[in-house]
Amino acid sequence: MEFDVIANLRKSIRSFTEQKLNEQQISELKETILKVPSAKAIFPWRCYFITNEEKIATLSKFKGSGSGFIKNAAILIIITADTSLSDMWIEDCSIVGTYLLLKAVDMQLGACWVQVRNRQHDDTTSARRFIMDQVDIPESHGIASIIAIGYPDTKPETRDSRSGMKHKFIDIQ
Ligand SMILES: Cc1cc2nc3c(=O)[nH]c(=O)nc-3n(C[C@H](O)[C@H](O)[C@H](O)COP(=O)(O)O)c2cc1C
Repeated sequence: MEFDVIANLRKSIRSFTEQKLNEQQISELKETILKVPSAKAIFPWRCYFITNEEKIATLSKFKGSGSGFIKNAAILIIITADTSLSDMWIEDCSIVGTYLLLKAVDMQLGACWVQVRNRQHDDTTSARRFIMDQVDIPESHGIASIIAIGYPDTKPETRDSRSGMKHKFIDIQ
């Protein structure tokens, strides 16, 4: 698929059918992550691929509100990194997330970024802690985001041009 076609079709998808991904599709997503750039070529990230339905249902409660929709995703990819390895782990993890969002469109899947870093489960428990209690992630790791992926339950449409944002482009010649 042409890059512009993918970029035009990419939208946050928060509603999924019950269809699961097969091993080949999961392996394609993994291959995509292996192609991301990384500051100083450190690649501090570690990604957890969650397909177990019960685990997904539990993880969908990781934020007090706003994460419930991931319950119906076919897969959750938790993007973490060993923060001691690189002070650019957030940027590195963000690129992993971005590639996954675009790759999902290429695979005719739908995806949504769900923020974890700096978010709370409730007044006393961070979103990170809640996830760490469910998934065996090393304490040295920060969690950037979860990318929820599945088959969209609506037909993808090309997005509005967002031309109203063009004033945000400043040409200096
Ligand atoms: C850094 C980042 C964090 C986001 N966090 C969430 C989130 O926690 N929950 C959610 O439903 N969407 C989240 N999104 C998706 C945005 O809400 C979405 O990209 C935005 O509304 C624009 O819509 P679009 O993705 O369809 O273009 C996040 C996106 C980014 C880039």
